[in-house]
Amino acid sequence: MRALAVVGARPNFVKVAPILHALEDVPGLEVRVLHTGQHYDRALSGSFIEQLDMPHPHHHLGIGSGTHAEQTGAVMIGVERILAEERPDALIVPGDVNSTLGAALAASKAGVPIVHVESGLRSRDWNMPEEINRVVTDRISDLLLCHCEEAVENLAGEGIAGDSVALVGNTMIDSLMRLLPAARAGGALERHGLSRRGYVLVTLHRPALVDEPTRLAPVIELLDDLARSLTVVMPLHPRTRARLEAMGAGAAQRLTVTEPLEYLDFIALQDAARLVITDSGGVQEETSALGVPCLTYRDNTERPVTITHGTNRLVGVRPDALSAAAREELARPFAEGAGQIPLWDGQAGPRAAEAIAALLATRVSSLSRRAA
Ligand code: UD1
Repeated sequence: MRALAVVGARPNFVKVAPILHALEDVPGLEVRVLHTGQHYDRALSGSFIEQLDMPHPHHHLGIGSGTHAEQTGAVMIGVERILAEERPDALIVPGDVNSTLGAALAASKAGVPIVHVESGLRSRDWNMPEEINRVVTDRISDLLLCHCEEAVENLAGEGIAGDSVALVGNTMIDSLMRLLPAARAGGALERHGLSRRGYVLVTLHRPALVDEPTRLAPVIELLDDLARSLTVVMPLHPRTRARLEAMGAGAAQRLTVTEPLEYLDFIALQDAARLVITDSGGVQEETSALGVPCLTYRDNTERPVTITHGTNRLVGVRPDALSAAAREELARPFAEGAGQIPLWDGQAGPRAAEAIAALLATRVSSLSRRAA
């Protein structure tokens, strides 16, 4: 039996690594890895693969940056070719990025069963490219691995239910739990001149926010103002860096701006932050698991479980609301204790591997029946 895992962008590596590790224990299964190259900078890709102890990808498409159609189309063309060469019994795709959708579409047309990791999340915001990627990928997947009960319910609402849906928990939290001790011991706080609970950590990268100067400028202004009273650290995604440079120097005078951080340093900085402000999806989850308050600068979230069971708060996209929420949060004593989200327990990878092994066993037995 052979499975092909397709990864392309930073969060994919974090989600898939625990599954790849657990699949090593499935007898008679060979897992191959294909990297689309959607993310190509070492800080967004290579360093994650190394720190997460993933196998070096067997195939690399090198698709790089481009429009949505260019990226998705290039992934489809490349994955179709590798599927013909490898003839896997299943394709494993995580998340909701363009690489996820492109790979799933190619596999669907080639008749290769698709396993979607982190299935069933819905923002119900069709302006988000990720929402289109999620819904379409789920619709054509054969095994839908969910990380929370709500995801299972979302799928049921769309008529997807039964044996193809498995609630396995959050593999991203497996990675976090496994590597947190190493992250804490890695000296990231010292290297960045920070003290535990003595700073606010900010990540902003969504095109809807950062590509629009009239939206980005007021947020930077308020963060800069917040930095008068507490250090504000902002690791910059390449997209955000480009937009900030276009806005001119001086826009973020008081902010402590860094390059994108490698995985271990980023989780160390989340773990010790007083507060996190983000527009990311994964950060809402990681802060919830770490018990660090998070303000999400978006109008919606596909991860409401982080609000009901975690430490996340949705503030909308009004700078004054963000400013008020941040000041309110910082005025409160820090409440120690992580959020408790069912099945976000560090064991999601083995549960996912079990579901994948069951799918493969069914497929192999039906193929051998057909051959006989
Ligand atoms: C992608 C995902 C988003 C995910 C994010 C994680 C889609 C639609 N979006 O967004 O869901 O949260 O990854 O980071 O798939 N760039 C570099 N170096 C790189 C990669 C990108 O400089 O290694 C720059 C390029 O200028 C590129 C831009 O960043 O045009 C955006 O990269 P892209 O992969 O298209 O999307 P992200 O914004 O990273």
